Amino acid sequence: MLEVRDLKKHFRIRHNPLARLRGHRDHIVRAIDGVTFEICEGEVLGLVGESGCGKTTLAKTVLRLYLPTNGDVLFRGQSVFGMGRNELKQLRREAQIVFQDSNSTLDPRMNARHMLEEPLLLHRMGQRSERRQRIASMMEKVMLSPAFLKRHPAELSGGQRQRLSMARALIIEPRLVIADEPLAGLDPIVSTQLLDLMLCLKREMGLTYLFISHDLSTVTYASDRIAVMYKGRIVEIIDGERFQSGALHPYTRFLQSPERLPVESEVNGDIHFRHGNGGKGCVFHEKCPNRTSICTESSPGLRDIAPGHKVACHLVN
Ligand SMILES: Nc1ncnc2c1ncn2[C@@H]1O[C@H](COP(=O)(O)OP(=O)(O)OP(=O)(O)O)[C@@H](O)[C@H]1O
Ligand SMILES: [Mg+2]
Repeated sequence: MLEVRDLKKHFRIRHNPLARLRGHRDHIVRAIDGVTFEICEGEVLGLVGESGCGKTTLAKTVLRLYLPTNGDVLFRGQSVFGMGRNELKQLRREAQIVFQDSNSTLDPRMNARHMLEEPLLLHRMGQRSERRQRIASMMEKVMLSPAFLKRHPAELSGGQRQRLSMARALIIEPRLVIADEPLAGLDPIVSTQLLDLMLCLKREMGLTYLFISHDLSTVTYASDRIAVMYKGRIVEIIDGERFQSGALHPYTRFLQSPERLPVESEVNGDIHFRHGNGGKGCVFHEKCPNRTSICTESSPGLRDIAPGHKVACHLVN
């Protein structure tokens, strides 16, 4: 359904003249740096990696919310960057993105009914009575009482807002849903309920998901396959069932190790242009316990290790 080919998105960070005088130089952030993968129809592909590794940038570039620096994305065989106006409109209906913080993505002035009706109007789906019908059935699907239709985002709990965001994305019957940390900030019980609801809706509506999270346990629970990202690269792709015991990339193993430090403490956004050797070598070589000289010299590509299992590491075979 979706094919991503050698996708890159680099951001140029420009400083103002004063900062330049102080010696701050413009630089490039390689938020995504050559990513290739595909998602099959009906699949849940999990995407994990620490904060700042490029997950949101990838999601946005895949759906042409950003233009890429390099590479291509095919949605049902067609390049999303080559699409004309009508094809793009169709893409906007068939592929939806749900963001983490529904508090800032939902318009505070709209009540739930308006929020659900807006995408139907935009995509000219149904007459007034049919729209009412669709809204009622969508509310039922996400298990929100019809009484909530009059409420504004501020009058909903975090979990209810996330359900409403899901309802808003799903009401126009997309095929692909990119969920960017949809459970972040929710307490564990609400988060489990929402995840189960998402998986149930997936079956019911025949959806395909790209499910982004930095929580390994939810991703393992939800995903058919898991892609692990580090500094703008995918370093491993593996079946969900084999993830726990069969992952081979040293970074994946590091993520899985219980004694590791909280991830946020080791990264702060600007890592991408700082990584050693001017970008030469493996992205993980500086932190890798197993590195040898080849790791600092050349960047390993994603290679098939076993059916359904790819690893980007010189030392894994
Ligand atoms: N619009 C932008 N302009 C410049 N740099 C950006 C922009 N968006 C993202 N970046 C940088 O690109 C890198 C990847 O950011 P991104 O938001 O994609 O990471 P992420 O994996 O989604 O992180 P998180 O888990 O915290 O959401 C970061 O270094 C970030 O600072
Ligand atoms: Mg993000």
